[in-house]
Amino acid sequence: MIRTRGLTKDFVVSRTETVHAVRGISLDVEPGELVAVLGPNGAGKTTTLRMLTTLIPPTAGTAEVAGHDVVAHPDRVRSAIGYVGQGGAAGASQRVRDEVMTQGEIDGLDRRTARRRADELLEVLDLADQAGRKVESLSGGQRRRLDVAMGLVHTPPLLILDEPSTGLDPHNRANLWDHILRMRTASREPMTIVLTTHYLDEADTFAERVVVVDHGQVIADDTADALKAELAGDRVALRVAPGDAGKLATLAERAPGTRSVAIDGDRVEVRTADGPGATPGLLRAADAAGLAVTRVDVTRPTLDDVFLSLTGRSLRETAVATAPDLSDDEPAGTPTAPATSTRKEVLA
Ligand SMILES: Nc1ncnc2c1ncn2[C@@H]1O[C@H](COP(=O)(O)OP(=O)(O)OP(=O)(O)O)[C@@H](O)[C@H]1O
Ligand SMILES: [Mg+2]
Repeated sequence: MIRTRGLTKDFVVSRTETVHAVRGISLDVEPGELVAVLGPNGAGKTTTLRMLTTLIPPTAGTAEVAGHDVVAHPDRVRSAIGYVGQGGAAGASQRVRDEVMTQGEIDGLDRRTARRRADELLEVLDLADQAGRKVESLSGGQRRRLDVAMGLVHTPPLLILDEPSTGLDPHNRANLWDHILRMRTASREPMTIVLTTHYLDEADTFAERVVVVDHGQVIADDTADALKAELAGDRVALRVAPGDAGKLATLAERAPGTRSVAIDGDRVEVRTADGPGATPGLLRAADAAGLAVTRVDVTRPTLDDVFLSLTGRSLRETAVATAPDLSDDEPAGTPTAPATSTRKEVLA
């Protein structure tokens, strides 16, 4: 469905400054895959998606989408994809329902189908009460939901979603995911979905494949479980009597599957490929050596641990550091997310 080779984008900002936004990305996405693209702000995710959706031309390299070259046949590419850009697509003075219907008709639906899909999506995305309102009167989160409705109105073989859930409250995020997954199972042809998100839990739970991008390059590409097992490993923390930590650490180092051992006071922290599998052996070894373990905690790594092990930086921290104020209906305590640009991006 997607095949890129050495895809590159440089932005010449001034005579002395060029931004190397995307540096040679080679990526294959098969029909029916659900791929999440993760990476810190400025990693090159949006730039990559905008090249795939023909909104900007690559500086170098090639990209084929749905079997068509993005430079040679942009129209064919556009008719095969649905796209929700990071910036809003809706016209401010239009009415909500009309915007979704018009988008549906632009995407080739007949008027009746466009109306039915619009009503269905406005219901799913909690916008039914706002259907007759002007877009400019919507809150930030409502407007984001409208963008998503416009991108989903026809059910194309390939959906490209740039931060579809940013700015949505937890209830609407859950509804959106529910709908995306239902759309996928309901469609006759395999539906391919490529999306970016800063919500690591979403990528972890829903994506079958995770592509991590940093500084314009793909630095990891696998299932979330494989990345976690390969790169981060489980953590087994064992607490022993003060003074025994060194002895337990020596035993843990010899245990099968151990990758690293660290001592923190009376806590011994063991990184291992399979935490639940390694724990009984660690406890038996401690017992045989006469060491009393008073507490055991096994934690599985998160995708943030994966990013940390790849780059030495936390994805969570890089997102928080650059996060702006969220939309007005974003409740407190929801994970922070980066800005959405106000640039208008419409595929028509
Ligand atoms: N039109 C442009 N002109 C100049 N530089 C640009 C342009 N668009 C993007 N960039 C730069 O390219 C780099 C990659 O930006 P991009 O929007 O692809 O990042 P991103 O991974 O989508 O980040 P975010 O998580 O913040 O959305 C950034 O340094 C950005 O400032
Ligand atoms: Mg982006």
